[in-house]
Amino acid sequence: MACWVDSAPANIALIKYMGKEEGNMPVNISLSYTIERFSTTVELDDAAEYDYLEDDLGLTREQRDRFLVHLRYIKSRMDFGGYFRVRSSNNFPHGAGIASSASSFAALTKVACKAIADIESRPMLSSRELSEIARHGSGSAARSLFGPWCIFDRGEARSVEFPYTIIHELILIDGARKKISSSEAHKLVRSSLLFSNRVERAHVRCQRLIDSLTSQNWHDAYQICWGEFWDMHALFETSTPHFGYIGGNTMHVLRRLEEFWLQHKDGPIVTLDAGPNIHLLWRDDDLRKLFRASASDLTFI
Ligand code: PMV
Repeated sequence: MACWVDSAPANIALIKYMGKEEGNMPVNISLSYTIERFSTTVELDDAAEYDYLEDDLGLTREQRDRFLVHLRYIKSRMDFGGYFRVRSSNNFPHGAGIASSASSFAALTKVACKAIADIESRPMLSSRELSEIARHGSGSAARSLFGPWCIFDRGEARSVEFPYTIIHELILIDGARKKISSSEAHKLVRSSLLFSNRVERAHVRCQRLIDSLTSQNWHDAYQICWGEFWDMHALFETSTPHFGYIGGNTMHVLRRLEEFWLQHKDGPIVTLDAGPNIHLLWRDDDLRKLFRASASDLTFI
């Protein structure tokens, strides 16, 4: 029996995509860092009569259906009539508070397109084409086809490079499944008064971030990313109904990171996804060890 396996990494947005149109078309530009060490692997085998999923991710019924709907979408795009058994697993722990939708939809897209190309002796699609298809599963999945950094603008993702070697760390505050999914968040934020010029704000910040990373102005990059995650979380907190992810524990650690920056005039880029956990991007130097030494009470992943 033929079998195909492929994987794709997670990514964390520094300029966030929030608000989308039909086909997961983002309303604004985003810029992400690809987290190579966190990936999803998807395995496909031929199946006789229907597609089915054996997942190792502890997905809800709704999430499983969404995965199979995306497989159907890929097959219809490729005009393919066969069926697959799908197996999916992450190399990052369950309950780590890391959304796996980007890596899982990107991995499913890669492996299904590869399997169909093999079966039908067709040429493999380009990363650009795969990314466009992955976007229909989850907007942020479009970025997981490119690294080490990715710009995603008007539905098209592409790689960018900046002169940094990055070490990514996650401070785990809460690993529970979030109550409001990002799909719901994309809809709810439109009710916030702050949404009216969100697209412009994201655009201006993105350009500034590109300039500061290119010119190695790390401090400016940190400031821009700090403002940006608060912008997204302010949209959440000013929506009707309002919702949010930042509680006392997250806030406490954010203040410690601010103090670290004040004391050392240096530190990591800090960002939050739609969740309470804190992503840190460090330059590859000794500062990271200094922070770690003062933070033995925190859980790093
Ligand atoms: O890919 P989605 O539709 O789950 O949206 C992701 C949205 C955020 O993670 C909150 C921000 C982003 O740009 O990744």
